Amino acid sequence: MNTPNRPDVTDWANDFDPYHEEYLTDPYPIWKDIRESGCPIAHTDRFNGVYLPTKHEDISAIAHDTENFSSKSVIISDVRVEDLGSFSSPPITSDPPDHQDHRRVLLPAFSAKAIEKWLPITRDICNELLDEFAENGSCDASESYAKHIPVKVIARMIGIPEKDGDMFRRWVYELLEAGPTDVKLATKATSEVFEYFGTFIESRRNDPRDDILTYLLEADMNGKPLDDRQISGGLFLLLLAGIDTTWGTIGSSILHLSQNSEDRHRLVNDPEAMDTAVEEFLRFYSPVSMARVVTNEVEISGTTLCPGQRVMLPFASANRDPDFLADAEEFQISREVNRHSAFGLGIHRCLGSNLARMEIKVALEEWLKRVPEFELTDSNKVTWAGGPVRGPRSIPLTWETSQDTAVKRNSASAEST
Ligand code: HEM
Repeated sequence: MNTPNRPDVTDWANDFDPYHEEYLTDPYPIWKDIRESGCPIAHTDRFNGVYLPTKHEDISAIAHDTENFSSKSVIISDVRVEDLGSFSSPPITSDPPDHQDHRRVLLPAFSAKAIEKWLPITRDICNELLDEFAENGSCDASESYAKHIPVKVIARMIGIPEKDGDMFRRWVYELLEAGPTDVKLATKATSEVFEYFGTFIESRRNDPRDDILTYLLEADMNGKPLDDRQISGGLFLLLLAGIDTTWGTIGSSILHLSQNSEDRHRLVNDPEAMDTAVEEFLRFYSPVSMARVVTNEVEISGTTLCPGQRVMLPFASANRDPDFLADAEEFQISREVNRHSAFGLGIHRCLGSNLARMEIKVALEEWLKRVPEFELTDSNKVTWAGGPVRGPRSIPLTWETSQDTAVKRNSASAEST
């Protein structure tokens, strides 16, 4: 994404732009420079004023401090905080004490136990996708693989048609990628999502099923059933939070493996290493940067943060802070101690982390069984989406077709049953 209507950035410490092409493509040197500059919190007057902390200590302090930082606006956009209106998407946009009630409603659907059931289904989904291209010798791993997995899984979990996947991804684009700098588009997409869920809520009332839609229709908050707006709001959040986060991490992991043959061979030869590797993929390529609104004047690392402005929380920068973790700038596939913050810190810590971990693990396992050897055709063709969620949107790969992809597909299915 370019920044057509905004001036170019020449000073990342005092005039950064999180939607600038350079930031989307490779934010790591920018964060590193700011982190090491002696003033680790950058600022911009763009978007009505935004701070950018880059150290783990500061990002963690802000994420844990709900007294001075509110989640009422978690995306950096042109909309001023005072013009936000009543739109909310709890629990991610809620503060204490309301936050806990909203979170508690959704939690059971994403417990480790609840996610177990989705593991074989996800394995089948991955293999169906691989069937389409494994024997072709090339594909775009984002287009043909990564982007479909979370959409197909969350659609089935919620109980909405998988065939609407393109529309869900369009909403993700309109709300998280283009929306922050195109408020009209974001408003239109929000109405569409609420209208879409409205029709399902109506029909599911008379036709209960084993899905999250039915679960929410039957759930209560402090003894009171949820109203339609609350149900749509919860589904809206799950759809948005669950798609491009996991898409981005699966994509970044495959991109990494296409360029790092030692790591690829390690996982092919020792599948037991996958759990540890997934944590390192999550740490190193953390996709999410959520925001907070400053509610009281507060000083962090020598910078006074002014009320009414926003703060970005780039969890990926926290994860690469060498003061928090030894050799943080290095990808280590067998890293043993890895307390990363890819899933956030504090009360808003990701509610879908069990699901995300499972999807990433299964997606990589099935890919490596069918396509163990592959490489990137041209690194210049890799494109990135960014903003609140960053990930590769084009990963052109090639491989020898002599690999026994069909046999491996059969053994993969056999294991999943
Ligand atoms: C690799 C994949 C994922 C990553 C890296 C990720 C990351 C995050 C982060 C950093 C937060 C905290 C936001 C904040 O502090 O404001 C968060 C919150 C959340 N995530 Fe995820 N997420 C992922 C996948 C998912 C999935 C699959 C779902 C469910 C379908 C999900 C649902 C949520 C929800 C509902 C919240 C809000 C929790 C709250 O406010 O209490 N996420 N996620």
